Amino acid sequence: MRKLISQFFKLYKIMYRTHTCGQLNIENKGQKVILSGWVNRRRDHGGLIFMDLRDRYGFTQVVFDPSNDKDSHTSVEAVRPEFVIKIEGVVRSRPKGQENADLATGEIEVLADKIEIISRAKTPPFEIDQDKPVNEELRLKYRYLDLRRARMQRNIITRHKMIKLVRDLMDREGFIEVETPMLMKGTPEGSREYIVPSRIYPGTFFVLPQSPQQLKQLLMVAGMDKYFQVARCFRDEDQRGDRQPEFTQLDIEMSFVEENEVMAVNEKVVIQVLKEIAPQKEVTTKPFKKITWHEAMSVYGSDKPDLRFELPLFDVSDLVSQSEFKVFANAVKVGGVVKAFKVPKGAEMPRSEVDSFEELAKQHGAKGLANLIWKNGEVKGSIAKFMSSEIVEKIKERGDVEDGDLVFFAADKFEVACNVLGVARLVIAEKMGLRDSNKLALAWIIDFPLFEYSAEEKKLVSAHHPFTCPKDEDVELLDKEPAKVRAKAYDLAMNGCEIAGGSIRIHKPELQSKIFDCLGISKEDAGSRFGHLLEAFSYGAPPHGGIAWGLDRFIMLLLDEPNIREVIAFPKDQKAKDLMTGAPTPLPEKQVAEMNVRIVEKL
Ligand code: AMO
Ligand code: AMP
Repeated sequence: MRKLISQFFKLYKIMYRTHTCGQLNIENKGQKVILSGWVNRRRDHGGLIFMDLRDRYGFTQVVFDPSNDKDSHTSVEAVRPEFVIKIEGVVRSRPKGQENADLATGEIEVLADKIEIISRAKTPPFEIDQDKPVNEELRLKYRYLDLRRARMQRNIITRHKMIKLVRDLMDREGFIEVETPMLMKGTPEGSREYIVPSRIYPGTFFVLPQSPQQLKQLLMVAGMDKYFQVARCFRDEDQRGDRQPEFTQLDIEMSFVEENEVMAVNEKVVIQVLKEIAPQKEVTTKPFKKITWHEAMSVYGSDKPDLRFELPLFDVSDLVSQSEFKVFANAVKVGGVVKAFKVPKGAEMPRSEVDSFEELAKQHGAKGLANLIWKNGEVKGSIAKFMSSEIVEKIKERGDVEDGDLVFFAADKFEVACNVLGVARLVIAEKMGLRDSNKLALAWIIDFPLFEYSAEEKKLVSAHHPFTCPKDEDVELLDKEPAKVRAKAYDLAMNGCEIAGGSIRIHKPELQSKIFDCLGISKEDAGSRFGHLLEAFSYGAPPHGGIAWGLDRFIMLLLDEPNIREVIAFPKDQKAKDLMTGAPTPLPEKQVAEMNVRIVEKL
């Protein structure tokens, strides 16, 4: 017995904690406990010193009372915020009126009789215990400190919960997770790729995957039937608030399915995720809406429309094609459109703000942004002098315009005109307070065009990727009017953000060759880039299709975070740099030479 007690004593002595900082409650009253954690805050109240001890699980109030233990009270004088300490003491209830209902441990405190400083801390570059705005560069440089803050802990823990949930749900639906390599041959998703030189084979390169696209298709040829992966993807593209060079997808592929089946299983899983991860939010679209790409562009000016509000665009091409405003008449004549967007009560908008919309439109590729203003029974605005009262009346009727409203007009190619007004629509909705973060509006955007015209390359390119299957009824258009061919492709849009995208794939080599022809990819080129896939398809390929969710984006929206970096533990900054380690950095010359790479010019 004595031996046992002494062993326990030894163990107890080296023990860092008997409980976490979020664990103790009134049930533990009277118990002797050991806690370890970071000093969140210290308050001196005359003789008493109060301290909030913090760890991932919560906060516990610790009291140092000189009349209880003089030594620990003296030692605690030297303790500063962010020190790591260990305390021993007895749990007691807080005095009446001092309880904190917001804290799980809010009914108790620990009266300390021992303190040990485990690790000292310099004064941190920003406050950890408060959610004050801090310069982001500083946060990224000291990310390990930033991650100590409550908001970041919440984000990272929620991310874990969501990914765990998604894995379980996919498993329940019969999907198996298969890991695919990081060092591979490129898969075209339309971005520049990160490349890794091979040391063993001089002059050759691996490419970091933009997505596991080809491999998941090969897994279908391999008979895996239902695959998923929480997959890391790499894209060397311009950064934005919802983009990272390195990001995570929930990647999915299924055999023997058509579009609706892929959408149905995803919708089921998404709804479960929303229920568990964001129960406080109201999903306003059940089942999710299905909107064709053309309608989404035409009515909402976006292929990822925000459907929490209406504010639709309307088409006035037919009304203005004969007008005296040559810009409009000409746009229609050359096959373009004139689209309009009503700003309710916009007549009160100051001139400078109207101009700022025109500026915004130009930034998005518009040639201009005309307007008509209905005010006190009169019609004014930049094109009022060109419009007959008859046309004005028809516009008013079509757009449900009332006195006090303003209407913006954009004349251009269909996509440009819609997109420009779609941007204005979002700005106005924000101003009117219609982008309610407690609401979630989701829609499948379907029937995307198979190709889009690249002004840069002066040819058709894949809107999604070259393995996307055209709609059966549009296959015959491939020769005559390829730009009109629609794809068996679908995106999932939530609150104006594209959170997932996918398609049914081509599984017949002949059709795939035809698509390569349309894209101007030669037989040799197709062979050297995708030969392995085409070869695989010649050994019995099941019809298949899939999708990938942008997991970071999805979590960002559910947590109401303004950018994707907030939900990634160690993100790159907006210039694709890791501010904590400084990467990318030069390497020692020897190491570079070993890779058979020569640096032509140093930055
Ligand atoms: P796609 O390129 O549409 O499709 O990507 C799927 C989803 O991934 C997210 N996403 C990003 N998130 C953060 N940073 C980025 N740079 C970034 N790029 C994309 C988006 C997007 O909807 N292989 C296909 C999927 C398929 O066809 O199955 C693919 O990758 O939320
Ligand atoms: P201007 O006659 O050039 O002063 O143009 C009159 C108005 O038409 C201005 O408000 C311009 O912004 C607008 N405008 C010019 N081109 C276009 C266009 N393609 N679509 C919509 N508005 C335009």
